[in-house]
Amino acid sequence: MSSAATFGKVAVLLGGKSAEREVSLKSGGMILSALQGRGVDARAFDPAEHGLDAFMKENFARVFIALHGRFGEDGTVQGVLEWLGIPYTGSGVLASALAMNKLRTKRLWLAEALPTPPYEVLTKETQLRAVAKKLGLPLMVKPVNEGSSIGMSKVLVAAALEEAYALAVNYDPVVIAEKFVDGTELTVGILGEQVLPIIKLETPRDFYDYDAKYIADDTRYLIPCGLSEKKEKEVQTLCMKAFRTLGCEGWGRVDLMLNRRGRPYLLEMNTVPGMTDHSLVPMAARAAGLSYPDLCLRILELAHVG
Ligand SMILES: Nc1ncnc2c1ncn2[C@@H]1O[C@H](COP(=O)(O)OP(=O)(O)O)[C@@H](O)[C@H]1O
Ligand SMILES: [Mg+2]
Repeated sequence: MSSAATFGKVAVLLGGKSAEREVSLKSGGMILSALQGRGVDARAFDPAEHGLDAFMKENFARVFIALHGRFGEDGTVQGVLEWLGIPYTGSGVLASALAMNKLRTKRLWLAEALPTPPYEVLTKETQLRAVAKKLGLPLMVKPVNEGSSIGMSKVLVAAALEEAYALAVNYDPVVIAEKFVDGTELTVGILGEQVLPIIKLETPRDFYDYDAKYIADDTRYLIPCGLSEKKEKEVQTLCMKAFRTLGCEGWGRVDLMLNRRGRPYLLEMNTVPGMTDHSLVPMAARAAGLSYPDLCLRILELAHVG
């Protein structure tokens, strides 16, 4: 690994103005102290508190993007850093923007024959009952542009679709209904060329919702995930393809379901996954023998421009 000094002055971008601000503050705070602990000249920078002029005055040599959601994970901040010519962590403009949009992501995966649950786009005019009939129940209704399970619901009966749509559309004008995959939830971290060990998630809730992610402690994380070695490799290969199909770089995390027959269905790609002490990528890295500070240094080392 590169020595800390070669990175120069590093900005850890954290907070921001997305719905996931609080999580980002936690992720970013931990990254900041891990990097500083390893001798990196890292400073926190919250774009919701300081403008671009303040950022430019700092003359940062490199940026660790720890912003989740819009205005950070979605290609906008990446575009500014491209313009300024400052190396930054993770995916570039296009891949970040694509991965932020669950609908565009699914379309690309399907174009490459990668499995993702069948879906329909919902609008004000959509005959919701017809959608329920076509896809079958239960359905997951999601805004295409949020994260952290915000605005999302599991719909068991067609009569509940309207309310689910009304909730989702508060967060994004584009909403999809996706076939619910009954089975096992998996998540897979990617670090450079390496696919990290798979984590299996078990929640007593309907799905891995916001509370399960950040508040409650009733989710079980299984690592090793209990799949056969062959199956684990197969899923890991699929996740690397999913990552590359979107043009992702540096690091990321793929969420997917395995149905009862063991068939994988890709749900979404996260280009700036959570990095709190509860988070999944740090957990998977640890299982691969990489400590939290080592993980942060590796992500920072993979940073580049364009
Ligand atoms: N089609 C689906 N079938 C079963 N569970 C789903 C499906 N889509 C989402 N979920 C559940 O909802 C959670 C959040 O969905 P996801 O698409 O990963 O969005 P995000 O994490 O960005 O909010 C998943 O972790 C999973 O528990
Ligand atoms: Mg997810």
